Amino acid sequence: MGQNLTQKILTSHLVSGDLKKGNEIALKIDQTLTQDATGTMAYLQFEAMNLSRVRTECSVSYIDHNTLQTGFENADDHAFLQSAAARFGAYFSRPGNGICHQVHLERFAKPGKTLLGSDSHTPTAGGMGMLAMGAGGLDVAVAMGGGAFYLPSPKVLRVWLTGQLSDWVSAKDIILEILRVLSVKGGVGKIIEYAGPGVETLTVPQRATITNMGAELGASSSVFPSDEQTLLFLKAQGRAEDFVSLSADEDASYDETINLDLSLLVPLVAQPHSPDKVVPVTDLATLAVQQVAIGSCTNSSYQDLMSVRQILKGKHVHPNVSLVISPGSRQVLSMLASNGALTDLLDSGARLLESSCGPCIGMGQSPVSKGVSVRTFNRNFEGRSGTQDASIYLAGPEIAAACALTGYLTDPRTLGIPPVVDFPDLFRIDDSMILPPGDPDTPIRRGPNIQPLPLAPALDNTLSLPIILKLGDNVTTDDIMPAGSKILPLRSNIPAISEYVFNKVDAQFASKAKVLKQSIIVAGHNYGQGSSREHAALAPMYLGLRVVLAQSFARIHRANLINFGILPLTFVNEEDLTRMQPGDILHLLDMHQAVHSPAPFAITLNDSSDPVWVKHGLTERQAKILLAGGLLNATKASI
Ligand code: F3S
Repeated sequence: MGQNLTQKILTSHLVSGDLKKGNEIALKIDQTLTQDATGTMAYLQFEAMNLSRVRTECSVSYIDHNTLQTGFENADDHAFLQSAAARFGAYFSRPGNGICHQVHLERFAKPGKTLLGSDSHTPTAGGMGMLAMGAGGLDVAVAMGGGAFYLPSPKVLRVWLTGQLSDWVSAKDIILEILRVLSVKGGVGKIIEYAGPGVETLTVPQRATITNMGAELGASSSVFPSDEQTLLFLKAQGRAEDFVSLSADEDASYDETINLDLSLLVPLVAQPHSPDKVVPVTDLATLAVQQVAIGSCTNSSYQDLMSVRQILKGKHVHPNVSLVISPGSRQVLSMLASNGALTDLLDSGARLLESSCGPCIGMGQSPVSKGVSVRTFNRNFEGRSGTQDASIYLAGPEIAAACALTGYLTDPRTLGIPPVVDFPDLFRIDDSMILPPGDPDTPIRRGPNIQPLPLAPALDNTLSLPIILKLGDNVTTDDIMPAGSKILPLRSNIPAISEYVFNKVDAQFASKAKVLKQSIIVAGHNYGQGSSREHAALAPMYLGLRVVLAQSFARIHRANLINFGILPLTFVNEEDLTRMQPGDILHLLDMHQAVHSPAPFAITLNDSSDPVWVKHGLTERQAKILLAGGLLNATKASI
């Protein structure tokens, strides 16, 4: 029996374990990436391991999330990251150079390699045939130190593509259609592998849009073969030597397959507040739009913005619409500038933003109250835009540009504009804003916003924990640890940022937690969905959260909880959640023994004689991490 592409990359990087489904496997990591919102912690954690240099083939520290300089905090963080990258042997992509995933695809991604990034959209590089995964910053710090990355051996879901996209139907419509079919839970525990004759019709940037939003399916990663299109892209990036041909064997098997005929797709939109609430744009044709935002790691490539230019050229943005455009990288921006497309965009009335995450992470451009914003981004959770009552619709850049012209949700096919196919033979290559690894004696710059790392306590054998919060399904990492321009600058200052934990749910959460000293949260399904933001585990840990008892967890957040010494438990009988209320006490006994056993165990609710049965699903390695007080303590003890 042959191997699928995922199995090939996994096998060639396997450090321990076997590929039997669900078994924990350890993988060698070739490359890492961090961004500034998670990178300060990752580099503080790397520093705490007392290693002199990174041990990967290539590690890159990007500044893209928080590039506004409204106070000293961001500037301090950038200076810290620049000095830490130089000292520890990583590349440093300066603010303004672009969004980590776009720049990584352009300048660093290599087919057949593994990439671990402290950002949940790291799978974007799967468009290049990499096995690229998002993880918490601490996992990335360990990988930078040469440590393996652990994950359950995934199922592989094949998406078999046939046909070819029609004019003005885009790669975004492919992934939105898959989200419609599979839902935001459809990829959990899986790697999504693309195959079939439709693959060769898609360029690397189009593939990267699709693998980027595999994160919204909950997938561990998504991967395309490495083929002629990959070579074309690498040649155009001046990196033909990085090409290797990679695909599944003819007789490979898969756990599941879905089929998609690209020629049947139509322009699609994801409605508020979930990326899987997908309908044809024509269903919403009377909806007025107040804002259009084009950019983000999903849709800000040169190809995307040339399509936008084609629609806007010689026309004007509707007077009721604010159109903002953030090119994904300095390379994209400089190419638009040099071929005149930028002038056409500006002449249309588009407002140009820096090449960074910007509005995607709530850094500016919040929509008007109760407004409708059409965005080419990957997420439309309530409040993420910075306006709690705004409605965010996700779409491809072609729909977005069409809406900007008409002021209504618009099918770009109705504009009667001929499409463009613009794929340059050679992109503009200028790596002057990527600083190479520096001198190992570089002093680390530490402003007042860089505070020491709090360490998790070791797991107590006996715990009596008050329930501080009872929550429903799909609690996001944004709910736990909000982002935004006030909060993000505090990411290196855990005492300060922890004041904002669960602020949207209970503004008094931090003060209550400090009074209780130790606590537990109970919740429904998919707790911690949304991002790799490890502050959503670290800051609650600082406030005394010791256990989360949920009906189920999102993969990355569960791993982050363990890494920061918080025990994730699930119910054996899900309806037991209804027995619990905030203020109740849960008693956990003999935990040092319980974490070593896969068997469910009983905990006591208040003084009830009817126990609550729970399970942890920890591997032996994870049990040791919890007993050591988190991954950093465990790693320090082992190197
Ligand atoms: Fe940045 Fe938004 Fe992507 S925050 S990394 S553009 S999901």
